Amino acid sequence: MSVQVKGRNQWWRGLGSLPRLVSLAAVGLMMQACGHYPATTFAPRSNLTQSIQDLYFEVIGWDSLILLLVVALVVLIIVRYSTRPTGRPTPPPPVFESRALEVAWVAGPALILAFIAVPSLHLVYSSQRAKPPADALIINITAHQWWWQGNYPQLGIQTANEFHIPVNRPVRFIMRSADVIHSFWIPQLGAKRDVVPGHVNEITFTPDKTGEYFGECAEFCGLGHTNMRFRVFVDSPTAFANWATDQTAPPHAPASGPARKGQMIFSTSACTPCHTIRGFSTGKIAPDLTHFASRTTFGGGTFKNTPQNVAKWITNPSAMKPGAQMPALGLSGPELKDLVAYLESLK
Ligand code: CUA
Repeated sequence: MSVQVKGRNQWWRGLGSLPRLVSLAAVGLMMQACGHYPATTFAPRSNLTQSIQDLYFEVIGWDSLILLLVVALVVLIIVRYSTRPTGRPTPPPPVFESRALEVAWVAGPALILAFIAVPSLHLVYSSQRAKPPADALIINITAHQWWWQGNYPQLGIQTANEFHIPVNRPVRFIMRSADVIHSFWIPQLGAKRDVVPGHVNEITFTPDKTGEYFGECAEFCGLGHTNMRFRVFVDSPTAFANWATDQTAPPHAPASGPARKGQMIFSTSACTPCHTIRGFSTGKIAPDLTHFASRTTFGGGTFKNTPQNVAKWITNPSAMKPGAQMPALGLSGPELKDLVAYLESLK
């Protein structure tokens, strides 16, 4: 028993003073605001996330006013009607029915809720208008267990887990699911949007600052859920045009060396029924590898795209990413090295 009491005392001591807690929270908020965390929602970088933040602070402002008003009224009533030293207080007469009061306590909260709901719904619908802006870049997203397929119908680009978009131009993501419910979320650019089998969902926004933005699946979708990440690169118009030109080019065809041997291994391997490399294979159930080496990550945006990681992955995918649906191909030694050399040549 005494041990418990002592432990509790130490717990309080370890917690520190209230001011320390408050300052810790303040530092945490400041770091959020500075955007040190990739999943921060306090550093908006698109018209949509900026509007969400504006609305958020507006609602907090009005809520604080209401809170102040309620606290002031409570204090006033306590001071005005509390027991006085000069005599016994008379209890107020019981109220059995008051139409005015009933209307007031239904209408008051209803008005407050409407005040929050109307601009919130307006914002939600403005991010998924039936007709996208005429100059919007369209990206079709298909969510798979556990990776993101992207196709740019206007440009003929196929990619996975990494999506480039130009700054200051509206982008419309049109989302479908190949299996279960996922949720497409880029905290700094676009609000969460569920990706539901048999249903098409959309989100439209305009990014306003170049950079690399973290995205993730925000709906539990099975074993690989935490490793279902992605990146959105907001490029300058020139950088985006260069990227698009590279992506539409045919894949690199090595003439000799390990990469050439790797190409032969790929075209006769079990990779081809699942992966596309334009001109060599047409598999559709796994990421398109035509420009695999142009991507900074793989495995659902989870691992850095380095030869070491790719070799480790091919050797045993589910050891790196539990639940990964790619089987171990049984490749090792020079064969594995050559295949990795080929994949890493596909800029
Ligand atoms: Cu997909 Cu969680």
